[in-house]
Amino acid sequence: MAKLAVNVDHVATVREARKVNEPDPVTAAALAELAGAEGIVVHLREDRRHIKERDVYILRQTVKTSLNLEMAAAEEIIKIALDVKPDISTLVPEKRQELTTEGGLDVASQQERIAEVVKRLQEGGIKVSLFIDPEPAQIEAAKAVGAEMIELHTGRYCDAIGEEQALELKRLLEAVKYAHDMGLMVKAGHGLNYVNIEPLARVKEIFEFSIGHSIVARAVLVGFERAVREMVELLRLYEKG
Ligand code: PXP
Repeated sequence: MAKLAVNVDHVATVREARKVNEPDPVTAAALAELAGAEGIVVHLREDRRHIKERDVYILRQTVKTSLNLEMAAAEEIIKIALDVKPDISTLVPEKRQELTTEGGLDVASQQERIAEVVKRLQEGGIKVSLFIDPEPAQIEAAKAVGAEMIELHTGRYCDAIGEEQALELKRLLEAVKYAHDMGLMVKAGHGLNYVNIEPLARVKEIFEFSIGHSIVARAVLVGFERAVREMVELLRLYEKG
């Protein structure tokens, strides 16, 4: 069975909507691990829109499975990664205006620069994963720059519908096989939910899924009733004096 790594960025997104200290992504990470997650993922963006340095440093001390730090190949963030020493650093492209990571990292067009960053992180004791589109040229480049693993961007498959989705799935599965045969460990993520995970969950060559939004979205809904009930109960209790 593939491992589930839970991305808790959006717990921090809710916290940052009020700039307070709850909900805490550190607590969510602990609950995710108690529920069976085998990895915790956070993206320390350059604009710190959700995850903060404080979260990453505390998670380094509390995560018992595997901590995966998503990051841009930017000097400031590389220095933090080398200090925090997550188990895995996933290099992703980052644009300030985007709502979420939009495309895969273009490793093919900047091999020299990425190879240098991969080497620095590995020398710091961190395994490196590259978040790339399911394209042969990107997979070959990821292998060439020395990454141990790749995370294939599943966004196009998740966003597509009907026949187009079948085509995107085919492309993804071919990429999984190509990368796996090349000796790369293959992960997948972005846009995966409780419906579109099915065909991918059957693929033995994928060793881990990285999922965030759909889990946080479901948590809000499945937890809503209980949260309201608990407040009503408190009102009832305090009214009695
Ligand atoms: N993998 C990477 C590299 C990502 O950037 C993200 C989004 O933060 C995810 C996985 C998780 O995507 P989603 O939140 O859509 O499940």
